[in-house]
Amino acid sequence: MMRFKALCLGLLCGLLAAHIYMPIPSNIEEHWKVMVLDATAKICTFMGTCFENIGIMKYEEFISMIIRLDYTQLLSDEYVTVTDTTFADVPVRLYLPKRKSETPRRAVIYIHGGAYCFGSFKQSGYDFLNRWTANKLDAVVVGVDYRLGPQHRFPAQFEDTIAAVKFFFQDKILTKYGVDPTRVCISGDSAGGMLATAVTQQVQNGLEIKHKIKAQALFYPSLQIIDSYVPSLRESENGIILTREVAIKLLSLYIAEDETLPQAMRRNQYMPLESRHLFKFVNWSILLPEKYRKDHVYTEPSLGTTNFSLPIFMDVRASPLLASDSQLRNLPLTYIITCQYDILRDDGLMYVSRLQNVGVQVVHEHIEDGFHGALSYMTSPLYLHLGLRIRDMYISWLDNNL
Ligand SMILES: *[C@@H]1O[C@H](CO)[C@@H](O)[C@H](O)[C@H]1NC(C)=O
Ligand SMILES: *[C@@H]1O[C@H](CO)[C@@H](O)[C@H](O)[C@H]1NC(C)=O
Repeated sequence: MMRFKALCLGLLCGLLAAHIYMPIPSNIEEHWKVMVLDATAKICTFMGTCFENIGIMKYEEFISMIIRLDYTQLLSDEYVTVTDTTFADVPVRLYLPKRKSETPRRAVIYIHGGAYCFGSFKQSGYDFLNRWTANKLDAVVVGVDYRLGPQHRFPAQFEDTIAAVKFFFQDKILTKYGVDPTRVCISGDSAGGMLATAVTQQVQNGLEIKHKIKAQALFYPSLQIIDSYVPSLRESENGIILTREVAIKLLSLYIAEDETLPQAMRRNQYMPLESRHLFKFVNWSILLPEKYRKDHVYTEPSLGTTNFSLPIFMDVRASPLLASDSQLRNLPLTYIITCQYDILRDDGLMYVSRLQNVGVQVVHEHIEDGFHGALSYMTSPLYLHLGLRIRDMYISWLDNNL
């Protein structure tokens, strides 16, 4: 055991040294913090992969263990009562402001990120953000914990999220928590941004819920899984926090148990022939502003090379960018944050174009010195300023628009 620990420590130090010199773009603030954060993420990935290869534990079990270290206890404070409960059997954390309110309150449903395999409303960054939102806006906030991969694959994540949202939108529940049904926002980051987007599309286009969503707020969302070679995936392949390799690994865990899938995704050769008609929805040579297209050459993914024939690849609940224009037209006011140094940057940018093309009101903030996942690091020990900036932009937008 001692020797094993020493080995791990040795590996860790060596890698830290090697990774700490990874070039971080010069316009990124708090340079050293970001270097340490990125090195830690890459070391964890390396260790997880080693553990999996040696047979100690699965890669995702190791990463999940690390993320769990950041889980908070349920804690009310002088302004907000916090409760863990369930909505339609889906675990949720509720933040109810303590002060009296004469009128029904605004509400925010928050869907956390974590590549469909990790994470919880219990993570300190999300707990902090949701508490802050409840307090600053005097709003009811609901954090949703959907089932995670690889134990639960697509569409479990979507189904849990929409079940919780439907539960919340019942008149008796809205009344119970004193919520104004015309002032509900759904927000999410990364994979949670995908879930928030997909749920909003379903709610706005369906008849099952009497009320509609007033606004959606999406932070560096993942919005398509059919083209794995858009410009941001090329430029940020070895990006801060989230690399293309890690994204492919985690995505495959969520999609299917098939060892050949990651390889096909790396080559961008995994879509079936009959999906050709969908590529116009993610054609970045049309949907990306020129500034981001730069001199990248559009290459159509080669279709029908492999036969995964997985329905998820053609499903709008996994790639909200595949929604038709008529489905997009019904969407509410949308707030999108994209980050320059993020493999998912172009998903957000393309969604902005598609929404604007059909006349949906969009407020888009592109953060030139931003990178993926910043909201998760605004609490101890990093207190990342970028995360706090995003929080403040979001809160002020919400306050003015919800
Ligand atoms: C993508 O757009 C380009 C024009 O920029 C066009 O030549 C190409 O056929 C389009 N491909 C798809 C699949 O829509
Ligand atoms: C994929 O499946 C179809 C029909 O099942 C078959 O005709 C085709 O040859 C297969 N392609 C490959 C690359 O295996």
